[in-house]
Amino acid sequence: MSSELIQLVKQSFVERFKTDPILIFSPGRINIIGEHTDYNDGYVFPAAINKGIAAAIQKSDSGTCTAIALDLNSTVEFELDKLKPVKEGSWENFVFGVVAEIQNSNKALGNFNIVFKGNIPGGAGMSSSAALENSVVFGLNELFQLGLTKQEMILISQKAEHNYVGVNCGIMDQYASMFGIENSALHLDCRTVESQPYEINFEDHELMLINTNVKHSLSDSAYNDRRSVCEDISSLLGIKALRDATETDLKAIVDKVTPENYHKALFVIQENARTIKAAKAIKSNNLDSLGALIYESHMGLSTQYKVSCDELDFLVAQAKKNELVLGARMMGGGFGGCTINLIAKNETKNFAKEVSKAYKNKFGKDCSVYFVKLSQGTHIVN
Ligand code: GLA
Repeated sequence: MSSELIQLVKQSFVERFKTDPILIFSPGRINIIGEHTDYNDGYVFPAAINKGIAAAIQKSDSGTCTAIALDLNSTVEFELDKLKPVKEGSWENFVFGVVAEIQNSNKALGNFNIVFKGNIPGGAGMSSSAALENSVVFGLNELFQLGLTKQEMILISQKAEHNYVGVNCGIMDQYASMFGIENSALHLDCRTVESQPYEINFEDHELMLINTNVKHSLSDSAYNDRRSVCEDISSLLGIKALRDATETDLKAIVDKVTPENYHKALFVIQENARTIKAAKAIKSNNLDSLGALIYESHMGLSTQYKVSCDELDFLVAQAKKNELVLGARMMGGGFGGCTINLIAKNETKNFAKEVSKAYKNKFGKDCSVYFVKLSQGTHIVN
């Protein structure tokens, strides 16, 4: 439970720093559909969830800053004017990146201490990274009264990811984590960075996550490579982003790109169209149609965009065999992490059992099943 997580973080902070902190909860996210469309200025459909990062933060009078990652039992002391990215894959980059990017935006910070802990598994495609970045920027904004808007804060989190973590991510994760609304998913236009909330109530169906427990690492150049391909094709087409292209536009340059890259761009154009259709399906409560779009999304991610893996493909294939699972696909950047499944409520137990057994047989390891609540975005906890 998140309240226990918050208590734990608070207690550790008080024991260590002997003062009362400001407490922040910053959620992870799911994404119903619209994958790898965000950095193409397209549409996505994420929602903040009731799992994420709890952080405790307060000013420090010791002359330096201290950050403690409770999950990793790891502490770092640092000075505000000497920040540089550290080794790729280190948790410190999330904190250092946000602090540095706040300072780059000409806001003055004082020394501070922060303790944090999460209840989403890292590398599961549920955006523990964005949750952490947002908790730091939100906490510092409050602590030093920086006057940053939520829009400014998510851009700082995103820059931290680009310049310190090394992933050229889009804006979906930071946006969903910051702007989440209870019981709602956000149909976000990543060009205007504005969203429409859709109340999600699938009645006798629900969303179920299955974690392959294969940890993806987005800083793996694969993610950044995909983004470069999209940008190259956009400039060939003379447009700002693939969001502006149609399949016909793409066909006109088929001779100028490799077949692999052609299929990647085609995927983005189609996925963006699927996301718009999904919004309509949700509005009219047409779950069969939503489910079909979700399956198509996976097919594209796997065979065209090539960001899936055997474990994810296997979980989706198992879902397809069960007619009470209306849709299933990999979620997030890919190469591991979770699938998201649209399933009849009365089938969840049975499917979880079936799929867990089959997965274990096939890969000799366990998958994990989660249910999440759609929840509010990054906030102060009193
Ligand atoms: C990661 C990135 C997002 C987005 C997804 C894929 O989660 O952080 O910006 O690109 O992958 O949809």
